[in-house]
Amino acid sequence: MTLKVLGVGSSMRKGSYSTETLRIALEKASQNGSETKLLSLYDNPLPFYHERSRGNNSNIDLATEMVKGSDAFILATPDYHGSMSGSLKNFLDHFWSDFAGKTFGYICASHEKGLTVMDQMRTAVRQCYGWSMPYGVAINGDHDFDEDGSITNPALERRLRMLARDLVIYGRIIREQFQNDLGSSEAATFAAQYRK
Ligand SMILES: Cc1cc2nc3c(=O)[nH]c(=O)nc-3n(C[C@H](O)[C@H](O)[C@H](O)COP(=O)(O)O)c2cc1C
Repeated sequence: MTLKVLGVGSSMRKGSYSTETLRIALEKASQNGSETKLLSLYDNPLPFYHERSRGNNSNIDLATEMVKGSDAFILATPDYHGSMSGSLKNFLDHFWSDFAGKTFGYICASHEKGLTVMDQMRTAVRQCYGWSMPYGVAINGDHDFDEDGSITNPALERRLRMLARDLVIYGRIIREQFQNDLGSSEAATFAAQYRK
C-alpha cells in the first residue's frame, strides 16, 4: 500500500517554524514513498469544537476529507505554555474518532525542547486510540533556521529524515495490520470493535 500521510500545522503565526519544519518532514516522507498532504489550521481554521459544529462548515468539511483519507499523521505545534496549541487540541477534539490504527509523529517549535508538549500530544493521541512514534522532533527556530527559512542545524536535518523514514515504515505496518484485523474474524484484537 502507499501510505497517505497528513501533516497538521497548528501555529497561529505566519512564517511559523513548526509548520515550515512540517513541510520539510512531509517532503522527506514523500521521498520515502508516501503520499502527503498538509492541513494548515492557520489557513483553514476550525471552529471551536461543539456538538453542533460538525457538518455545516466548509473548513470542517475540508479537514474531514483530509483526515478520513489519511493513514498516518505528523502533528506540528508551537510550544504554548508547555502545551500544544489550542488549535491542535481543537483539531484532535473534532477528529478523535478517526485515529484508531493510525500512527502519529510529532514536531514542536519551542525554546525549551518542548518535552511537555510532546508528552501532552502523545497522551491526547493515546486517548484517541492512535499509535505514537516513540520520539519527536523539537526545533528552536531562532537557532536552527537561517533568515531564508533553511535549516542550518545538521542534527535537525538528520532527525527529520529519520522521522520521515520511520513514520512511513512503521505507519504502514500498523495500518496494514489494523486493516487485516478489521477484515478477520479474530475476537481478541483491538480492531474487532471497529468492525461494521
Ligand atoms: C501564547 C504563547 C505561549 C508560548 N509559550 C512558550 C513556552 O511556554 N515555552 C517556550 O519555549 N516558548 C513559548 N512560546 C514561544 C513559541 O513556542 C516559539 O516562539 C515557537 O517558535 C513558535 O512556533 P511557531 O514559529 O511554529 O509559531 C510561546 C508563544 C506564544 C505565542
